[in-house]
Amino acid sequence: MHTFLIRGGVPLQGDLRCPGAKNSALPVLAASLLPVGKTVIRGAPAITDTESAVRILTHLGAVCERQGRELTVDAGGDVTGVIPEDLMREMRSSFIFLGALLARTGFAEISLPGGCEIGQRPIDLHLYAMKRLGAVVTQEAGRIRCEAPNGLTGAKIHLSFPSVGATENAMIAAALAKGETAIENAAREPEISDLADCLNAMGADVRGAGGSSVRIRGVKALHPCVHRIIPDRIVAATFLLAGAITGGSVRVMDVIPGHLGPIPDLLEQTGCRVETGPDSVALTAAKRPVSVGTVRTMPYPGFPTDAQAPFTAYLGLCRGTGVVIETIFESRYKYVAELSRFGARIRTDSRMAVVEGVDAYVPANALAPDLRGGAALVLAALAAPGESRIEGARHIDRGYEPLEISLGSLGADIRRI
Ligand code: EPZ
Repeated sequence: MHTFLIRGGVPLQGDLRCPGAKNSALPVLAASLLPVGKTVIRGAPAITDTESAVRILTHLGAVCERQGRELTVDAGGDVTGVIPEDLMREMRSSFIFLGALLARTGFAEISLPGGCEIGQRPIDLHLYAMKRLGAVVTQEAGRIRCEAPNGLTGAKIHLSFPSVGATENAMIAAALAKGETAIENAAREPEISDLADCLNAMGADVRGAGGSSVRIRGVKALHPCVHRIIPDRIVAATFLLAGAITGGSVRVMDVIPGHLGPIPDLLEQTGCRVETGPDSVALTAAKRPVSVGTVRTMPYPGFPTDAQAPFTAYLGLCRGTGVVIETIFESRYKYVAELSRFGARIRTDSRMAVVEGVDAYVPANALAPDLRGGAALVLAALAAPGESRIEGARHIDRGYEPLEISLGSLGADIRRI
């Protein structure tokens, strides 16, 4: 199991580029199952979740190739609709293939994703959407079968929660359904709009993505396309927080500043200087950062739940008391116990964390409990003067290209062992 060895206390300085978004690459990879032929995906991040998705696509019958950050997926041959248990276990979000399998083959069999480190991850909204489109859904012993032998039919789908994955599965399945689909209370994340752009480049007819009502007019067939993934807003936020927490100055390039939501403004409220360019955000850390009031995670365009852990690690060094409320996932504070080893003074109570700023973190050995919690621990280790070890790098590698390279390019002393 890989471990990061970090000698912290060094202010990070410099520029770095933001890679493509994991949470856009995954649904776009699923959508590449729809057209017969070779879809080219540019800017796909080199992370283990995309490798897992490629393994699933290959198992389903697609031919995949990777050259650097360019992936080609040839779904020309026969595609099966069954994702085996072991591959489902490898990546929780494999249920993102449900809509594509159903639309392409009329059949999909997946296993329940099973809870993960941050919550139970139910898929009731996904199954509701598939049923609304005419699929017959049966469930036995943790395996889910969806069947639509005569194809899918457009319908009105009203999501009780603006679920990102359920919105994506519904859009992908509806693209080849007969007639029109309306998704109400759809998720508005930038990754939804990116998926819509990719589907429309394939010849689909998706309108309104990015808003709460998405309309899809089904078409007979889709053709391959070339699609460039949008930048990863969570990785960009993590890089900016690395500059803020180490007292340095960092400029992240190739970003879409608007996708960062409230984060630049919150960083300024703590005392950082933030300059936004057309495709970059530059931060100079505050000398003595001050805490912000209450930060509440919300669906986009609110504060993103995926940035909650890294932001809380930074908040732990801001003078005063901050309150974080995690409204999206039910157990996304697993990393707090590990963060306390660095001297953080945080009390959690179900969805709330009360963060009392301390003057400095001390080096520690910690274990990453999940992807974003692991990133939070790396930030704490970068701030703590001395040598820290973060075990469980595999969690972090799921969503970040090798941090020893990206953060290393900013002067961080970080090695993988
Ligand atoms: C996506 O997960 C992201 N993953 C998550 O990123 C992100 O945290 C989340 O959206 C919210 O922005 C990918 O895109 C691959 P949801 P998803 O469906 O689609 C409940 C990361 O760190 N819910 O919007 O699973 C669910 O339990 C990952 O990059 C249901 O109740 O998120 C949760 O409380 C973590 N029933 C809430 O909705 C359902 O059928 C938000 O889930 C589906 C979801």
